[in-house]
Amino acid sequence: MANWKEIDKKAKEWIEEAGERIRESFSTKLSIQTKSNPNDLVTNMDKDTEQFFIKKIKETYPEHRILGEEGFGHKVESTEGIIWIIDPIDGTMNFVHQQRNFAISIGIYEEGIGKIGLIYDVVHNELYHAIKGEGAYMNEIRLPKLEKVSVKEAIIAINATWLVENRGIDYKKLTPLVHDSRGIRSYGTAAIELAYVACGRLDAYITMRLAPWDFAAGLVLLEEVGGTATTIKGDKINIIEKNSFLIAKEGLHEEILAGYLQK
Ligand code: IPD
Ligand code: CA
Ligand code: CA
Repeated sequence: MANWKEIDKKAKEWIEEAGERIRESFSTKLSIQTKSNPNDLVTNMDKDTEQFFIKKIKETYPEHRILGEEGFGHKVESTEGIIWIIDPIDGTMNFVHQQRNFAISIGIYEEGIGKIGLIYDVVHNELYHAIKGEGAYMNEIRLPKLEKVSVKEAIIAINATWLVENRGIDYKKLTPLVHDSRGIRSYGTAAIELAYVACGRLDAYITMRLAPWDFAAGLVLLEEVGGTATTIKGDKINIIEKNSFLIAKEGLHEEILAGYLQK
């Protein structure tokens, strides 16, 4: 049986070391390339960081599989065994343009069940972490269970892309939510947006398309504080596929789903 405490200790050591390497890279010149389109950026630090984790994991846990955004890990098509799901830099555009609002995200799953979630906001030195069943933390602070809130008092993260004509959703469903909620925010990093829902800085997060490395860690944190995550249709999340997301506090999730998205 896996020793989750030990895996957690190692993963935390590695994420902190990787964060230090990223901070040091601020004084060096980045090499920036584009991927699927001119706004889909990748840097040498995204690749270096993913390779850094892969080397450590392969040396220490050769039987574990790795699903990484930059493709240096394994081709993962089933949830069997232990899988590390890694986004070396979530929010690469922010990393390149702002040197802030990005994070390293690592979710570790066994047979499709989230066991460990780590999201490291490198610049603010905030490590969000959870082991399944043991609560979620931001650094040393235990995150309390989320309290109920209604749409009219909620701050909701939505990327502006989904509020204009787009291929993911009829944006007119979201317009009333913009009017009815207390405020809309967008940070440009799904991992931090998930961590912010888990720690109560946001009440909900709605997005049309996230990949496993964007959400794997955040879902573990969210479960520990009693948050709810489904697709925008209310369906269960498939952890090794792309999904749309409605992530919210209990109650608010139902209110948004029934009152806005399913209308
Ligand atoms: C992106 C960010 C962004 C989200 C995109 C992701 P990346 O990740 O999380 O907030 O809207 O869907 O692809 O490319 O910066 O790792
Ligand atoms: Ca990402
Ligand atoms: Ca990334």
